[in-house]
Amino acid sequence: MSTNGAPVPPPQPSLLKTTASSNGTVPPSVFTLPQTAQLEALYTIIRDKDTSRGDFLFYSDRIIRLLVEEGLNHLPVVKKTVTTPTGSTYVGVGFEGKICGVSILRAGEAMEAGLREVCRSVRIGKILIQRDEETTQPKLFYSKFPQDIAKRYVLLLDPMLATGGSAIKAVDVLMENGVPEDRIIFINLISSPEGLRTFSEKFPRLKVITGWIDQGLNEKAYIIPGLGDFGERRYCE
Ligand code: URA
Repeated sequence: MSTNGAPVPPPQPSLLKTTASSNGTVPPSVFTLPQTAQLEALYTIIRDKDTSRGDFLFYSDRIIRLLVEEGLNHLPVVKKTVTTPTGSTYVGVGFEGKICGVSILRAGEAMEAGLREVCRSVRIGKILIQRDEETTQPKLFYSKFPQDIAKRYVLLLDPMLATGGSAIKAVDVLMENGVPEDRIIFINLISSPEGLRTFSEKFPRLKVITGWIDQGLNEKAYIIPGLGDFGERRYCE
């Protein structure tokens, strides 16, 4: 309330301060969550270095839930007719195909519970990519996918899109396993503009759902302002 008793209007959601492509626009395959004051408040909590691990878990889970719901909005639907308890016919829609999640270890595992909350008994695959010390390139160390992954829509989960190296490698591996590019939806909490640009130039038909686009990367390839190391904050005290 203001001093004269009138309600104080909510703060304006901040406009995206960054851009992800060289011509100053976000690539058309990239979708951000609505940049509301509520969302910015959630991000402010998880970015704060003094936020406890318990609060980091709780509020990052809230954002993950929003991201997963938004990811599902991009899956194709087909007409579906049902009969309601009143005996009426209702012509609605149902999802067209089967989905699965694939988390990029280890931080991506933190997003699996959010996907399971929304899609009961969803199949989940895993992929471990690390830097090859000899070549400095991202290298596949481990993968395990549902055996029919080529027939599914894949929600690829990794909280931070920094340089894009791991995510690009993960998509290469999925495509080698028969998943078409346009059946993959990549979901993350924070993206760097340069990572988004590199990733979406390589895979223009793959949709990216990101919660927030930050300013850039520092010399250690951390996202700025970012939230630090997501895995450390999530799994370590
Ligand atoms: N991974 C993280 O956890 N944080 C970053 O800023 C970049 C990559």
